[in-house]
Amino acid sequence: MHSLLSIRDLSKKDIETLILEAEEIKKEISTEKGREALRNQYKNHLFANLIFEDSTRTRTSFNRAARTLGMDVETIAGAGGTSVKKGEPVTHTARMFQGYGCEAAAMRHKLIGAPRLVSEKLNIPVTNAGDGYGEHPTQALLDAFTIKERFGSIDGLKIAMVGDGKYGRTMHSLTQLAEHYNVEIMFVSPEQFAMPQWRINDFEQATGKKATITSNIMDAIKVADVLNMTRFQRERFTNDEEGKREFFEMCAQYSINAEMLKEARRELAVFHPLPIDKSIMEIAYNVENTSHAYYFEQAENGVPMRVAIIQRMLGKGFEGREKSPYKHSGLWDPINLSEKKGPKEQDTWILENGTLIDHIEHGKGLEVLRVLGLDKWEETKLTPGLNINSVKYGKKDIIVIQDVELNDYQLNKLGLVSSTATIAIIENKKVIKKGKVHLPYKLTGEIECQEPDCISNKIHLENVQSTFYVENREPLEVRCNYCATPIVGRENIKLLQ
Ligand code: NCD
Repeated sequence: MHSLLSIRDLSKKDIETLILEAEEIKKEISTEKGREALRNQYKNHLFANLIFEDSTRTRTSFNRAARTLGMDVETIAGAGGTSVKKGEPVTHTARMFQGYGCEAAAMRHKLIGAPRLVSEKLNIPVTNAGDGYGEHPTQALLDAFTIKERFGSIDGLKIAMVGDGKYGRTMHSLTQLAEHYNVEIMFVSPEQFAMPQWRINDFEQATGKKATITSNIMDAIKVADVLNMTRFQRERFTNDEEGKREFFEMCAQYSINAEMLKEARRELAVFHPLPIDKSIMEIAYNVENTSHAYYFEQAENGVPMRVAIIQRMLGKGFEGREKSPYKHSGLWDPINLSEKKGPKEQDTWILENGTLIDHIEHGKGLEVLRVLGLDKWEETKLTPGLNINSVKYGKKDIIVIQDVELNDYQLNKLGLVSSTATIAIIENKKVIKKGKVHLPYKLTGEIECQEPDCISNKIHLENVQSTFYVENREPLEVRCNYCATPIVGRENIKLLQ
């Protein structure tokens, strides 16, 4: 793996290695000899820094990092001034840079999953420099590097995440990174900007620890080692005049000043990915003069960390997180014919040849017909059986299809609609094979992502094939490949037509 698109994709070893390498690079950068050695590593190679949203630190530190390694850099600085404004698909824009000879790219975009999509379409490694309100993995890595620099270790710390948990991508990535450490996490946000519950669930499941959730910033100031302040992402939502006033009043409650920090522990370090919003001042100017302020040092660490990241992208790559334990890839969970009764020859509806879909949840038969597209097969003879008595379920629906076997795509759709359906293949009036659908780990083209800003959402016209991963069978849980949003329960899954 040479692309770095989400903290979710990295192993703990990847994170630790990057931190160690960034430490080394920071030392090297401080001497002329070290700088010279770094400059010779990728002299005359080309890096693409494709930043389609406003950015100061991320953009310039990627430039600086690539140049530190001797590279030339092609840059996009904001979507304005590019053909994205003329409606160009993002994959077309990005492809040009590969054509120019760029060997790796950093990319920031307002749509979640855009860097991942580009990494799939291009042959060069890509890193995510911030995708909408999704993730910002390189920021989380530089945060982790800075926490380790300041405290010696990440384990054992209390980290408070303050501000915009909903749209704050830096907070999303840092929370994911914290899953690998023995830390206590506290989320301090107003309800309407709370961290999505599924991200909290991910953290709690991975660590077995409960996160603390509060709307009182003093709760955090009194106990935290790291106070990770964030900006409310005003550009990601619209507000009328009344809404704006309420918004600023709310922000005041998630802002800190030097007086408030008098109640903090001596070791408390204030972090912020920056920029601070000057009409809010979530960190007052007077905090800069206290021993707690660490956000400028944090920002400076962006360069050595990004040098380490580019080196890995062009060199050894990343080991990657262990994939889901969900290994099964077959479409059938066979049911032993001798053990189960199944249809009998004397059953009046039995087919000569074909498929019997049995044990469909009572009331779902017609939906299954529609989802499988069978309602449009004019030539095929099929019989839906509704409200049939069932020993196991009381009532059930069945569908009998003459002379046809379902294809893989239809089997997947059946598995996504029904948790109980069984399929029997019938030849010469005998059941020769019977089983339940077993969804494969990867589902392509079946499920519609409903996250509004996900690049795979059809409204964005980016021609992305929907891809979901099955993370759990019962209750069924699938996760979008592009925005990582999980969908739990068949009733919440929207199938593509
Ligand atoms: C952040 C971003 O753009 O996600 N800044 C950064 O990259 N250092 C945070 C922000 O804009 O508030």
